[in-house]
Amino acid sequence: MLTLALGVVVLPVAGVVGAQPDDPRRARPQANDRFVFAGGNGKGRVITSADVAPVGPPLTAFPMDPATRVVRDESRLNQVLLVRFHPNDLAGDTRARAAEGIVAYSAICTHTGCDSWDWQPASSTIKCPCHFSEFDLKDGARVLNGPATRRLPALPLKIVDGVPVAAGGFVGRPGFDTGGG
Ligand code: FES
Repeated sequence: MLTLALGVVVLPVAGVVGAQPDDPRRARPQANDRFVFAGGNGKGRVITSADVAPVGPPLTAFPMDPATRVVRDESRLNQVLLVRFHPNDLAGDTRARAAEGIVAYSAICTHTGCDSWDWQPASSTIKCPCHFSEFDLKDGARVLNGPATRRLPALPLKIVDGVPVAAGGFVGRPGFDTGGG
């Protein structure tokens, strides 16, 4: 089985030096935000619809304010997974939040907050390598196998000028509960 590490495990930190509470770099994704690559050779480049290849693996991104071009990367809770499926394979609520089959979710595992993922191409699902929770991104990121008990929060999308754009904020709270629930 082909697996692909999609991110780097970083433990949560209580605060970020130099970042203020109202810092737009720490604000959660907002309607009309674009997305930029979170790492790799394209780090910081705006992600186009064409960048999101059909049926995974997911891209890891940060939202960006389109007016100021401020990237909201001072909070790791703002990391987002973008992945494209065939629209007919999406569950109803997920299809309604998708754009051209592309769906977006918080990249932070709801168990204890890891942000590294293995893509499982046979099932088009993702597995957290920390404690092996699995999520179905075609169906609202529901938990297929624990120990996680909570879905990954979804982020509704639209397409503007060939670019995936946030159509609103997270549906649910990104992050995890103390103790791992
Ligand atoms: S942090 Fe993902 S399963 Fe534990």
